Amino acid sequence: MTAIPRPPPAARQRAIACVLLAVTLATLTPGMSTAAQKCPATVVHGQRFHDNGDGTVTDPVTGLVWMRCNVGQSWIGDRCTDPKAWFVMYSWKEAVKLPEKITFAGRNDWRVPSIDELASIVDSRCIDPSIDLLAFPTTPSWYYWSSTPFGDNPEYAWRIDFRTGKENSDLKSSVSYNIRLVRGTFTESTVASESSTPVGQGAKAEGLAADGIHDPETAGLEVLQTPEEGLTGFPRTATGSINWVQALEIGVIDPRPSLSGDGEMTVMDLDIILADTRSMPRVRFPHKAHTQWLTCSNCHPQIFVPKLGANPISMDANLLGNYCGRCHGRVAFSLFECDRCHSVPLGQLPSDQR
Ligand code: HEC
Ligand code: HEC
Ligand code: HEC
Repeated sequence: MTAIPRPPPAARQRAIACVLLAVTLATLTPGMSTAAQKCPATVVHGQRFHDNGDGTVTDPVTGLVWMRCNVGQSWIGDRCTDPKAWFVMYSWKEAVKLPEKITFAGRNDWRVPSIDELASIVDSRCIDPSIDLLAFPTTPSWYYWSSTPFGDNPEYAWRIDFRTGKENSDLKSSVSYNIRLVRGTFTESTVASESSTPVGQGAKAEGLAADGIHDPETAGLEVLQTPEEGLTGFPRTATGSINWVQALEIGVIDPRPSLSGDGEMTVMDLDIILADTRSMPRVRFPHKAHTQWLTCSNCHPQIFVPKLGANPISMDANLLGNYCGRCHGRVAFSLFECDRCHSVPLGQLPSDQR
């Protein structure tokens, strides 16, 4: 293993790269917490939802019947089994096809909830997660898809981050999230509704203003490109998401090292092989692909102690938003693109090398 410093990429500067870097840095928030749910002392759970005793609850407020577990878990006895069924997430396109195959609690009329329906079970007084955990045990502080497409933009749909209960939109095809199914007729009028879903009619600026990411007050919205316009011609991965590593390599983007454009990135070319992967191919961690975007202190020492084997990284921890999951699945490619990390076939390395 050798460290071969490489020169920083040439300093052509384009606005899109600046935006990208700003977004990447601005969203490097701490990973999803594994700590206990936080609610004000006055919050009492376990009262609103009626337990039907079959893995479903009825919400008298909306009339809806909800599955207590995520799709992928089973209701056995009195609990959702396999709380670590993190594997079982779906892109929006897969999710909306799921109900066809599902019979649960004797019913086959389950569906993916609309954004208003899903918002009706958010308990915004609490975080980590924002839900009644007695009614919906094992709810991760993670995103759930709604069935509601995003305004004018057919590539996006609404989702809720159950860590905070906030709504915004994401790309239908490339990101996988948890799914909770619902049945019944939604009586919206009775819900205290802060969950107004902007429908983005008309101008694209309205769409951007409503995406929960852009500042709706900014006059600059009119001059911004929509994501599709901006990303035309970008290299894609097998799952259809942008391959940023290639985008940088082939020069369709050229990130600024800082917001002002000053300074240089210190790129370090050092691959680390993480070999504790059971039957999966080993993980190649490339410092190069990271230090083209990130500085050492983005990772060291808070996320990773800079020492081989010094970090108890595991897939569960990643999926809970720690280690690689601090970024992957959030601001970098999804944790479900397994082979981009697990890229070194077993048997290519001595078994003692980590
Ligand atoms: C995206 C996160 C990330 C960034 C950015 C990053 N590293 Fe690392 N670094 C890692 C990981 C992961 C490991 C492996 C840790 C392990 O084996 O548990 C590592 C390991 C190391 C090691 C130990 C190597 C060894 O052989 O023991 C050194 C030294 C190191 N990094 C230096 C740096 C420097 C210098 C920079 C900035 C130029 C940097 N890293 C940027 C994630 C990062
Ligand atoms: C962002 C990179 C990344 C992606 C994507 C990724 N993994 Fe991992 N995986 C890791 C790392 C790092 C480890 C820990 C290796 C170590 O500690 O030596 C790991 C470990 C594992 C292990 C060993 C047991 C465990 O839980 O730690 C399995 C099995 C595994 N991954 C399966 C998968 C599968 C299946 C996928 C796709 C659904 C996947 N991984 C996607 C980085 C990744
Ligand atoms: C601080 C944020 C951060 C952390 C932590 C992080 N990554 Fe990344 N990773 C990125 C970014 C940003 C990229 C480049 C953009 C992209 O591909 O989405 C990237 C790219 C990669 C690539 C390059 C893929 C390719 O096609 O060449 C691999 C492999 C990878 N990461 C693996 C890992 C593994 C394994 C870990 C954990 C040991 C990890 N990363 C931790 C941010 C991070």
